[in-house]
Amino acid sequence: MNGKRVEMKRIAALTSGGDASGMNAAIRAVVRTGLDRGWEVFGVRQGYAGLIAGDFVSLGVRDVGGVIQRGGTMLGSSRCPEFKNEESREKALDQLRRRAISGLVVIGGNGSQAGSHALWQMGFPVVGVASTIDNDLYGSEITIGVDTALNIALEAIDRLKVTASSHQRAFLVETMGRDCGYLALMAGIAGGAEAVVIPEVETDPEFLASELRLAYDRGKAHAIVVVAEGAKYNAEELARYFKEHRARLGFDLRVTTLGHVQRGGAPGAFDRLLATRLAAAATERLARGEYGVLVGLLDGKIAATPLDEVVANRKTLDPGLLELAGILAK
Ligand code: ADP
Ligand code: F6P
Repeated sequence: MNGKRVEMKRIAALTSGGDASGMNAAIRAVVRTGLDRGWEVFGVRQGYAGLIAGDFVSLGVRDVGGVIQRGGTMLGSSRCPEFKNEESREKALDQLRRRAISGLVVIGGNGSQAGSHALWQMGFPVVGVASTIDNDLYGSEITIGVDTALNIALEAIDRLKVTASSHQRAFLVETMGRDCGYLALMAGIAGGAEAVVIPEVETDPEFLASELRLAYDRGKAHAIVVVAEGAKYNAEELARYFKEHRARLGFDLRVTTLGHVQRGGAPGAFDRLLATRLAAAATERLARGEYGVLVGLLDGKIAATPLDEVVANRKTLDPGLLELAGILAK
């Protein structure tokens, strides 16, 4: 949060990394709160790739009309590995300076905020907005897109339970989340799964088999296992293991991989409001000269965490929640 206070006249916003439902609400709020402060606001297309290439668009109040209810990002997003090179970031800064833009809002997850931290270290006023379905970003207890992605996972789990019960079957439902188990764990608890497999805790397939057998012994008509994509044994590997040992284990596991379906939903009320509040807080921080921070939700309140801290820390999952999932599965 150090650095010289700059008078903001023109700012830009971009969305980066995996898209998250609510990003449009965030863009809309940056634009409208920025304009309200008398600034000019620009959008950068395709994340850091557009920043390097100089793909800017001027945004007025009407340009962000009718987007709050739409998933995805109206500005587009990208994975842009070259942004990790200082030379590329110099090009990006040059594009900003050429347009006399003096502040940047970066709406994105872990990687994107590593990028905004790198820009901040090079002296440019940046504020990050916590946005990723993975919920793995230090500095925000919940990030934009998580709630909508969870609701999509729940809809799938509820439907799978219906058919699983009819056939007394066991299903594996794989959620996204990269190397974080949050989505799987929360979907497992809220969906009433019989087991949850996450990267943070190694689950042996034999142990899983015994848990599922016990569930059937307790009179359950189905078994739903929610598996995070980043787990040591992901859904595909678990299914292969159960198939190979079917005779001994007594059943196999059918797989539903939710994948990108979780990212494509229309944002629910929670994500629209979270995105709007965080983005409005981001322009406020720029106005106050509080740069080099990530705005997120902490203890239910909007809070800013220095990007230095954000990149130096890993967000951890509450182990008590996994224990709770196990108890509730009984
Ligand atoms: P997310 O922001 O959703 O976690 P990624 O991890 O793919 O998504 O990161 C998005 C982009 O952020 C990357 O494609 C890259 O352009 C940029 N980025 C990631 N890590 C760094 C880093 N260490 N330094 C600079 N830029 C980075
Ligand atoms: O970070 C969001 C995320 O959806 C992860 O959960 C997932 O591992 C990854 O992005 C998928 O990336 P891509 O859309 O590039 O395939």
